[in-house]
Amino acid sequence: MTNKKIPSEKCERAQELHEILQRANYQYYVLDNPELPDAEYDRRLRELQELEQEFPELVTADSPTQRVGAEPLSSFAEVRHEVPMLSLDNAFDDEELLEFDRRVRDRLNSKEAVEYACEPKLDGIAISLLYRDGVLERAATRGDGTTGEDITQNVRTIGSVPLRLLDNGVPEVLEVRGEIYMPKEGFAELNKKAAEAGEKTFVNPRNAAAGSLRQLDSRITAKRPLQLCAYGVGLVEGATLPGKHTEILQQLNQWGFRINSEMAVAENIQACIDYHQKLGEKREQLPYDIDGIVFKVNDIGLQRRLGFVARAPRWAMAYKFPAQEEMTELLDVEFQVGRTGAVTPVARLKPVFVGGVTVSNATLHNRDEIERLGVKIGDTVVIRRAGDVIPQVVSVVESKRPKNARAIEFPTHCPVCASPVESTPGEAVARCSGGLICKAQRKQAIKHFASRKAMDIDGLGDKLVEQLVDEGLLHSVSGLYHLKLEELVELERMGQKSAQNLLDALEHSKETTLPKFLYALGIREVGEATARNLARYYGDLEPLMQADEESLQEVEDVGPVVAHFVAEFFQQPHAQEEIEALRQSGVHWEPEEQGGEEQPLSGQTWVLTGKLETLSRSEAKDYLQRLGAKVAGSVSANTDSVVAGPGAGSKLNKARELDIPVMDEDELLTMLRERGFEI
Ligand code: IVH
Repeated sequence: MTNKKIPSEKCERAQELHEILQRANYQYYVLDNPELPDAEYDRRLRELQELEQEFPELVTADSPTQRVGAEPLSSFAEVRHEVPMLSLDNAFDDEELLEFDRRVRDRLNSKEAVEYACEPKLDGIAISLLYRDGVLERAATRGDGTTGEDITQNVRTIGSVPLRLLDNGVPEVLEVRGEIYMPKEGFAELNKKAAEAGEKTFVNPRNAAAGSLRQLDSRITAKRPLQLCAYGVGLVEGATLPGKHTEILQQLNQWGFRINSEMAVAENIQACIDYHQKLGEKREQLPYDIDGIVFKVNDIGLQRRLGFVARAPRWAMAYKFPAQEEMTELLDVEFQVGRTGAVTPVARLKPVFVGGVTVSNATLHNRDEIERLGVKIGDTVVIRRAGDVIPQVVSVVESKRPKNARAIEFPTHCPVCASPVESTPGEAVARCSGGLICKAQRKQAIKHFASRKAMDIDGLGDKLVEQLVDEGLLHSVSGLYHLKLEELVELERMGQKSAQNLLDALEHSKETTLPKFLYALGIREVGEATARNLARYYGDLEPLMQADEESLQEVEDVGPVVAHFVAEFFQQPHAQEEIEALRQSGVHWEPEEQGGEEQPLSGQTWVLTGKLETLSRSEAKDYLQRLGAKVAGSVSANTDSVVAGPGAGSKLNKARELDIPVMDEDELLTMLRERGFEI
């Protein structure tokens, strides 16, 4: 390295660039409120990189250029924590939390209520960040609490980890403790990409965060969507911090750390219980996984008086939520046949309480998933149930595999109608080739036909469809309109009144619209939006039934695959007969206004992200589509607008990066109301 003398203006410029970039990072990652446009940021970063290349002495550990990842390590060095990193005691119900508060007050000899800090317990990896004179010196994992691993290179790549503290008056030595985690959205994207590339996917965001931090090659870590949230301090020298835990966190925030925006102060233990309840209800909507709430005595003086037992402080308690992952035994695998013949393996489990309910079935998706998991019947498996999502088998505990574990055999013939099961190359799904001969497909087709967004037949639930088909009273969708009162009342659990109600609902459903009718037919890949486009393009059913694949592809959003399914569907004599029978029974609609006037949002692509509060996602999507917009799942240069609710993450960032207009839910509602929707 040459030792050129650095001109002072270059030194000053480098310093200036440090400050600009540092502030921009803070605004972007910590305040979620970037001021510097991305292109501008990139230009300044490049300028600094060039300066540093010219004068390598300018490269400092806290330089904003040092986040991109460095040469791989052969192993991580050991780090001793001067102040041990403790764990937390757990409470699982209100009584245990009340008991904790009683112990705290007994020890303090206090009859008065104790004030607590309330923070979500993030499900990630505990980290210790050591700053000397405001510069990040070392980042270490918790390890066993006394000795951890030096993962500084990796942690540096995380945007929300300050490399240098903001503001003056920083302590000579400051050890910040916090959690590194992967937000749900980033996790989903990471796994999607991994799956597309045929790579291993991560079981949950925590494992993904841990795996990303454990990389010896920090350039890999740099590509992972990790976040830091600070929740405390360890070693502090050369300064006095505020006297309350929540004030210390505010101070950390001033110095450039992200802290949890849900943090609150509870005046007493009852307020803690209320907070736990409230956040439990909000848990699914949060953009990150949490597994409980941490309550900490807020007064640092009181914390000192309370001290520690074994490995946990007496002044803190984690009040856990019901676990979202549990182990259980895979008793058997059954194969279900869906509306389009898709054969789905379903795991039959030894019942287990997970995510707040007892689960005895979980989906195994398809053959590839069974292979990926390497699961066998008899295995102990980990089940995950988060929110209202269908329970999933996420991994196998191979060490617990019994000797008599059996391989899962994918059926070659439909378990319901014995028709051959077929797989299309390149498609993960295997399908029963029986079509409507297959009772299972028939049942699903009828359920879909009757569903709310299709013919909307009130009172015709899934159970009743099963019963009608099993009793031999119903063989096809058109058969619905031939059901008789005498037959219905014979059914178990069916009174005269509900039978009549069902007949009335059936009668009522005959008056429909062409888009609903097309959707109800259950043509593969024809969802509501496609049905609407088809209806608008052809105006009525006859021209659509005659259309060939080429003409079909002229319809908005219809590509060769959908065109093929539509044409194929209408060519089937069985489908033609069914349609004729339905019309004979009186099913009718008004022709659609063909093409019609240009819709206000036609040609535009919108993206919804984050939580919406007034509308559900599918409602918002429906409204936008009715205005002609296409609603896509990811943001790209082709996106015209993004609607972002609370918790929006990487999609929102991407939109900002690409300078795409962003609106919140209120603005969306205003726009929809202006366009004549009554919401
Ligand atoms: S305080 C002495 N606060 O939970 C107190 N921990 O078993 C030490 N965690 O591994 C921890 N969110 O990584 C604290 N807001 C929070 C937390 C939190 C998550 C993790 C932490 C530790 C574990 C404690």
